[in-house]
Amino acid sequence: MSSQSTLSQASSITHTRKTTTTHIRSRKGAEPIVCLTAYTANMAEILDPHVDVLLVGDSVGTVLHGHDSTIPVTLDAMIFHAQSVRRGVRKALMVVDLPFGSYEASPQQAYANAARVLKETGADAVKLEGGATQRETIRFLVERGVPVMGHIGLRPQAVRETGGYRIVGKTEEECDALRADADAVTKAGAFALVLEGVVEPIARELTGRIDIPTIGIGGSPACDGQILVTEDLLGMFERTPKFVRRFANLRETIDTAISDYAKAVRGRTFPDHDETYGGGNGD
Ligand code: KIV
Repeated sequence: MSSQSTLSQASSITHTRKTTTTHIRSRKGAEPIVCLTAYTANMAEILDPHVDVLLVGDSVGTVLHGHDSTIPVTLDAMIFHAQSVRRGVRKALMVVDLPFGSYEASPQQAYANAARVLKETGADAVKLEGGATQRETIRFLVERGVPVMGHIGLRPQAVRETGGYRIVGKTEEECDALRADADAVTKAGAFALVLEGVVEPIARELTGRIDIPTIGIGGSPACDGQILVTEDLLGMFERTPKFVRRFANLRETIDTAISDYAKAVRGRTFPDHDETYGGGNGD
């Protein structure tokens, strides 16, 4: 069956129980929440049966488009990828990142762009980076029916401001800021909070402190759930941060497959008889 027909079959099945933000919230302190990123329908279709949350992350900019940060990612690019992911999702909660420059100016700007994301992609929620500084924006979105996942700690969209990808929570000052951020995001009404690049003691403390689930990425096992960039765990990159575990080495697998393909073409052993249309009645 072609992937095309598998996808259309998946979207015609309506009885699968769809994960909601309420389900995710209710998992606080209970069963760990499994989250991964996806940028395409095909990958979403493979991941969906295994995960609770699929994030269309703005990491698409570095992972698929070769940028050195997430800053260049546009809202239109996020919508394009999210529309693709939607066609592969059946049950996971689908969250889409609001990219840099699409929400920071005002709560109104954030609402207009979040509404576009929900309307044009069928996403269930948006994610945005920032804690206390985004309190009003998160509240504004949630009060108007836009579910929000927060993201504090290491904020990739802020690398120009923070000077790089730095692990946080090592000083009392940083811990105080993290506490204020976690409290602000929770009180503003977010349904879950990503803790990125945060040392274990404060990740554990924040997880016990707030009543919404924490989702760690380099945030230690203390969090209520975990997220990784899928291409990282599949071993598509030579260098990854310490918090990534490679569950496969697809880079090596792809390299071997492509080298075998090139040899077969050059040696005229591909395509062979069975892979060729003969023009007879059989095909
Ligand atoms: O963009 C992204 O992929 C993220 C991470 C939390 C995985 O924000």
